[in-house]
Amino acid sequence: MRKPNVVMKLGTFRGVRSSIFILGTFALLISIATLSKFYSIRSLLVPDTFCDHINRESQSMIGNEVRVTVDIVVQKIQKEMNDVRDLLVDSPSSSPPHLLKYGAFLADILGLIESVQASLPSNEGTHEHNNDFKAVHPLLKPKQQSDEPADYFFIEEIRKYVKIKPNRLGKQNFMGANATFTSIGHACFAMKKELEEYMDYDVGEICNDDWKLAQKLMVHGCDPLPRRRCFSRAPQLYMKPFPINESMWKLPDNRNVRWSQYRCKNFTCLVNNTTRKGFFKCADCFNLSDHEMPRWIKQVELDPITNLTADFLIPEVLDIKPGEIRIGLDFSVGTGTFAARMKEFNVTVVSATVNLGAPFSEMIALRGLVPLYLTINQRIPFFDNTLDIIHTTRFLDGWIDFVLLDFILYDWDRVLRPGGLLWIDSFFCLKEDLSDYLEAFKVLRYKKHKWVIVPKRDKDDREVFFSAILEKPARPFR
Ligand SMILES: *[C@@H]1O[C@H](CO)[C@@H](O)[C@H](O)[C@H]1NC(C)=O
Ligand SMILES: *[C@@H]1O[C@H](CO)[C@@H](O)[C@H](O)[C@H]1NC(C)=O
Ligand SMILES: *[C@@H]1O[C@H](CO)[C@@H](O)[C@H](O)[C@H]1NC(C)=O
Ligand SMILES: *[C@@H]1O[C@H](CO)[C@@H](O)[C@H](O)[C@H]1NC(C)=O
Ligand SMILES: *[C@@H]1O[C@H](CO)[C@@H](O)[C@H](O)[C@H]1NC(C)=O
Ligand SMILES: *[C@@H]1O[C@H](CO)[C@@H](O)[C@H](O)[C@H]1NC(C)=O
Ligand SMILES: *[C@@H]1O[C@H](CO)[C@@H](O)[C@H](O)[C@H]1NC(C)=O
Ligand SMILES: *[C@@H]1O[C@H](CO)[C@@H](O)[C@H](O)[C@H]1NC(C)=O
Repeated sequence: MRKPNVVMKLGTFRGVRSSIFILGTFALLISIATLSKFYSIRSLLVPDTFCDHINRESQSMIGNEVRVTVDIVVQKIQKEMNDVRDLLVDSPSSSPPHLLKYGAFLADILGLIESVQASLPSNEGTHEHNNDFKAVHPLLKPKQQSDEPADYFFIEEIRKYVKIKPNRLGKQNFMGANATFTSIGHACFAMKKELEEYMDYDVGEICNDDWKLAQKLMVHGCDPLPRRRCFSRAPQLYMKPFPINESMWKLPDNRNVRWSQYRCKNFTCLVNNTTRKGFFKCADCFNLSDHEMPRWIKQVELDPITNLTADFLIPEVLDIKPGEIRIGLDFSVGTGTFAARMKEFNVTVVSATVNLGAPFSEMIALRGLVPLYLTINQRIPFFDNTLDIIHTTRFLDGWIDFVLLDFILYDWDRVLRPGGLLWIDSFFCLKEDLSDYLEAFKVLRYKKHKWVIVPKRDKDDREVFFSAILEKPARPFR
């Protein structure tokens, strides 16, 4: 019984309302164009004479009229867009294509009118500083083409977010810019549907339980994601975390995590190896007592044939540069144990992670360590030549594209200080790929403190581990 209803609505809608509205919009646009042309020609032609002041006043009156009209037009289009949106919500499955097209058309028109609106002097401005009258701020000039994100997206919150926001009072901000250029990655455009779903919320209300959608967007390159003006969901009963002398090696309270988007619903399940519901690369890393406790501290068994191990110990690595290693980044998949151990050696380590299949960020934070929520797509948010150490394990391995590996290694090189250490921990790949990967690491021309290749004893002996401690050289002559 829904269909005829929708068809009827659409019939009326298409036949009468839309055509009248489109005609009306064009008429208004034309009149605005004429008025604003008149207004700009006047401001060009009238020379600086004694009657300048009077002219300015009449201009400002015209300007005010135009602004009021434009404001009304914008409001009307916004109302019409809301109606269209409601219609689309009524029949989400069978949203007719022309209705979508109509919506996009309205969004386009709104974009154009908003740019006209922005180029008009503001009401307060005309009263207070008449002299700034002709100088439209360069950032506010209407664009010729509509390839702006604000013209591409239909959801109001995205349009508001990406619009360049000039600083108030015409001042520069602390970063020396005249405006704030909020940005979304270009891949956001390819994921229009998901991004619009993500930004579809009520301002000031609780957000949807959609961090997983957000992470999907980030992992697929829509990074940075726009901010939102809704309250993110928190665990319903957040208990205070354990004190720092206990939190490091204790499973956190289950109530401090929202489990809805994970396959496990508690930490016991994540620890249990047989349920295998966590992230496959890190099936054991919630087992703090047995699996995590000895890592990087206790000597593991050597490979029986080569008498080598790919697992270096923290004390032997820190002894390469006694007292010099103070801050670092751990780019790994895990629950923060590396940072926990380094803390015992008075080294502050930030753990980069995304929540792949398990609450890694929550776990790291509840242990009392710093999780840096970061995908591999992004330039690392540290300044050049700042960190003493970068450690990586289970993250880079045989899946990674060679060019991508190059970009990542050069970025790590950028943030490492001269004399800083790059700890490649158990990188693994197929035997036949090894020499190509090793070339990629050699390109850095780092000093080799340790460099081992150990056969990986599962998977039919086809894979190898590679571990190294490399030191960034000083490059004094460049
Ligand atoms: C900011 O505006 C001032 C004056 O309009 C201009 O001189 C300056 O170059 C602008 N700075 C930037 C970063 O755009
Ligand atoms: C942790 O510290 C608090 C006081 O700071 C103390 O009461 C508690 O017993 C300590 N816990 C452990 C396991 O040492
Ligand atoms: C943990 O979750 C599993 C299912 O994921 C459930 O079978 C088990 O009873 C839960 N344990 C506790 C202590 O809540
Ligand atoms: C967990 O599973 C992995 C892979 O199947 C295995 O290597 C490991 O020994 C298991 N750990 C435990 C505690 O059963
Ligand atoms: C681990 O999971 C298996 C299979 O789901 C279950 O039989 C076992 O009781 C679990 N062990 C613990 C300690 O939860
Ligand atoms: C952690 O793994 C060990 C075996 O390596 C296992 O005996 C123990 O039960 C696991 N811990 C938990 C909490 O399941
Ligand atoms: C393996 O190396 C250790 C020292 O690293 C040495 O003590 C041991 O004898 C070696 N074992 C064999 C079989 O070569
Ligand atoms: C870490 O710092 C504390 C306090 O400064 C000191 O007592 C401790 O010996 C240091 N630990 C190491 C491993 O250097």
